[in-house]
Amino acid sequence: MHWGIFGRGVCLLVTLLCVCKVDCLDTKEFQKTLPAKLVWGVPGKNAELPCDITPALPGDNVTMIFWFKDNLGMPLYSLDARDGPIDKASHLAMSDDLGSRSYFITEGEPSQARLSIQNINVHDQGVFRCRVDFVNSPTRNFQVNLTLVAQPSAPRIFDAEGREIRVNHPAGPFLEGHAMFLSCQVDGGRPRPTLNWWYNGTILDSVIDSSRASHTTVNQLVIAHTPRHLRKSRIECRATSSEGAGYISREVPLTVFLKPNKVKIVTPNTLLSASKSQNIRCETSGSHPPAKLTWLLDGRAIRDAVVTEEETETFTGSILSLNVVAEDDGKELVCRADNPRFPGGNAEDRRQIHVAYPPKILVQLDPASKSPVKEGTDITMQCKTSANPLPDSYSWYQNSHLIPYNATAGILPEDSKLTLKNIEQNSAGQYACSAMNSEGETYSAPFEIQVQYAPRCKRGYEMVRVGALPFETLSVQCHVDAVPDVTRFSWTYNTTRGVLPVQGAKTENLGNVSILHFTPPSRDVEALACWASNSVGRQRDPCLFFIVPAETPESPRSCLVRNTSHGDGLEVSCIAGKDGGLHQSFVLEVSDVTPPSKPPGVTTLSDQGVLPPPKYRVLGERPLFRLHSLQPGKEYQVAVYAENAKGKSDPPVVLPHVRVEYDAPYEEIPTEEESTHKQPSSDSSTSNKNLTWIIIGASVAAVLLIMSIVIVAAVLACKRPTTVVKRRCRRSSKPPDEFELSEDGFGEGFHRRSTQYRASMYGECEDRITRMIEGPDLILSPMSTSEHSLEF
Ligand SMILES: *[C@@H]1O[C@H](CO)[C@@H](O)[C@H](O)[C@H]1NC(C)=O
Ligand SMILES: *[C@@H]1O[C@H](CO)[C@@H](O)[C@H](O)[C@H]1NC(C)=O
Ligand SMILES: *[C@@H]1O[C@H](CO)[C@@H](O)[C@H](O)[C@H]1NC(C)=O
Ligand SMILES: *[C@@H]1O[C@H](CO)[C@@H](O)[C@H](O)[C@H]1NC(C)=O
Ligand SMILES: *[C@@H]1O[C@H](CO)[C@@H](O)[C@H](O)[C@H]1NC(C)=O
Ligand SMILES: *[C@@H]1O[C@H](CO)[C@@H](O)[C@H](O)[C@H]1NC(C)=O
Ligand SMILES: *[C@@H]1O[C@H](CO)[C@@H](O)[C@H](O)[C@H]1NC(C)=O
Repeated sequence: MHWGIFGRGVCLLVTLLCVCKVDCLDTKEFQKTLPAKLVWGVPGKNAELPCDITPALPGDNVTMIFWFKDNLGMPLYSLDARDGPIDKASHLAMSDDLGSRSYFITEGEPSQARLSIQNINVHDQGVFRCRVDFVNSPTRNFQVNLTLVAQPSAPRIFDAEGREIRVNHPAGPFLEGHAMFLSCQVDGGRPRPTLNWWYNGTILDSVIDSSRASHTTVNQLVIAHTPRHLRKSRIECRATSSEGAGYISREVPLTVFLKPNKVKIVTPNTLLSASKSQNIRCETSGSHPPAKLTWLLDGRAIRDAVVTEEETETFTGSILSLNVVAEDDGKELVCRADNPRFPGGNAEDRRQIHVAYPPKILVQLDPASKSPVKEGTDITMQCKTSANPLPDSYSWYQNSHLIPYNATAGILPEDSKLTLKNIEQNSAGQYACSAMNSEGETYSAPFEIQVQYAPRCKRGYEMVRVGALPFETLSVQCHVDAVPDVTRFSWTYNTTRGVLPVQGAKTENLGNVSILHFTPPSRDVEALACWASNSVGRQRDPCLFFIVPAETPESPRSCLVRNTSHGDGLEVSCIAGKDGGLHQSFVLEVSDVTPPSKPPGVTTLSDQGVLPPPKYRVLGERPLFRLHSLQPGKEYQVAVYAENAKGKSDPPVVLPHVRVEYDAPYEEIPTEEESTHKQPSSDSSTSNKNLTWIIIGASVAAVLLIMSIVIVAAVLACKRPTTVVKRRCRRSSKPPDEFELSEDGFGEGFHRRSTQYRASMYGECEDRITRMIEGPDLILSPMSTSEHSLEF
């Protein structure tokens, strides 16, 4: 047995030597012609070198297999199948290191036969040759180039800007939904390495982006839309030259910023009251870093609101303390979540808010109502409200008084409408409405209704008695009320023969007043009538003027003496009596009745009731007089009477024993009249002679007085066209009640000034005409009494 084995070994060795002799000769030829199959080996792992042992001829059998390495003539491994089937063949490896780790595997398909080398190392690299000998077929040779794998360098990661991401540092930040770019690169590696991006066990990118020739291998990862779940995760770049050699891996933690993905106003959308502030809560989540919440109302940031915020890693809550006003009703409230690190990373929740507020209110004339408002028409006013909730009740007011519903009077307030039927003059005024809802009650601003009406006689001027002097021109004033202003006046007069229009007479129309200067054509003219018209219509009832013979005026009444308010004199005031149908003026006469300084018991004429001659006179358009020139210590007597063109009132009102006790600076009146009349009184000191002089003086004075009055009357009757006009105008420059005149000046002077004065009134006091005319001689109107009883 031993010998058998030995013998075979020797024989094999011989055979090998023979083979070698043959083979060694043609080694170079093999290397040129035979293709070498490349096999990559991983150090420390096994390598398998393929060798196809399928015979060229069917039924043929393998006899010998030899493995050679590089240029060595000696096989490192052999297999002898000459004695039987190949699976029973004897394997022989050279006793060196490589041979001892090799084994030829023949199991399975002959084409899959291979030499397995265990635990290869760098020295095993080289070109191996497999020689297969057959029984009948020609010998075949295969060449295998075993090269060891070289792993590339460790991967390096770069961002889009080309900056390297250091180990254990995160990449990013990347924005959710935006592109993410990372580049992984390795150097070297044999064979050319593969480079893959991995995430959670799956390959993201396996495409090599570098050129084949390059020493550096690059894989650029591009994610078009960065998904949310990449936040707080890592991705991995794996490099390998051969899968069998394992991977060289590099993990990169990612920083990904997230948009807020949820924002919600969580407070229920209830009706907000305008009067108080209310809390509204908004929450957001999903943002990284945490979102900031802002509030907008109607597109504008709410600045002065109180906001409470809470914040966790991805959650933000905000409580807005909102104060709304009525105008905010229907506006849009927006809660907006902004990721401060994420441009455009915002989300919003919006809602329309509903504000409860007290009514806002305005009175308007219904468009269907005609404006301007005319007497006799119907109008409707509307109470325009804006309120939430809608008002439950309305009220209407005229001049601040509640308007009751009165169908008979045609006053119909109905909720937000007020209808006034058949408008009258007194329907004019300030109208207002009020409306109430749960939030309160509001009153509107007053709304002025002006009513236009046809002219009518001014109150107290419906029927006027006009005193007429024979052959005198009458001046008659027709006063009407009208809105708008009068456009036309017309006059008629009637006699026993009928009613005739006034023609050719002079009229002056000043606004609401028409002044007619009329000379009656005959004695039987009974009345004048005046009609005015305006845009609304013609006056229905005329103003009437009954022409009666003129009379002397009535005496003034209720005369009083009192100190002036400044304490610098005395004031005498009376109430005017009837003017007798003509213009009246008033005269006050002052007489010095100081008892002469003589032994007591002696009496004077003045004590016996005879009026002493007046010291001076004061003339006035009104029965109101101020006396500044009286001397303290003296006693005076004051007489007041009225006069018109027909004559003077009789008897005069006499106020005896008027004294001044004030300390006002004494002011002598430098008039001739005074000195004239002083002389007799100062001289009358002792005797009856004096008394006689006084009587004579008084008589002369009385005669002079009567004469002057007669002259005055005559002058007035002849010259003055305005005698009948009853008017007064207080002119600030020359108040007529303070005229102080000498007796001489009283006649011509007074009347000249008086007529000038009146003429100026006609020209300049148009707007005050109604005020100027006081106390006309009214017959029928009850108002006339009150207008006469003005207190002074
Ligand atoms: C090959 O081997 C088989 C069985 O071992 C044998 O039957 C056959 O004859 C052999 N062929 C040749 C050509 O030797
Ligand atoms: C074996 O293959 C490697 C890799 O392709 C090559 O670099 C080497 O030159 C080859 N060796 C021979 C002897 O052909
Ligand atoms: C990773 O993949 C597994 C299985 O596909 C999955 O269940 C898991 O949720 C993934 N994890 C992440 C963070 O995506
Ligand atoms: C309604 O108006 C008429 C006419 O103005 C008046 O006489 C009557 O008193 C009013 N009724 C009420 C209830 O005020
Ligand atoms: C003139 O008119 C007045 C007022 O209308 C009237 O009272 C008077 O009787 C009339 N006189 C004549 C004569 O018609
Ligand atoms: C006319 O009378 C009306 C009503 O009294 C008044 O409103 C208006 O101002 C007067 N017009 C003139 C010009 O005086
Ligand atoms: C005027 O005032 C004086 C004192 O200042 C007083 O004594 C006198 O009675 C008053 N006269 C009248 C009329 O009021």
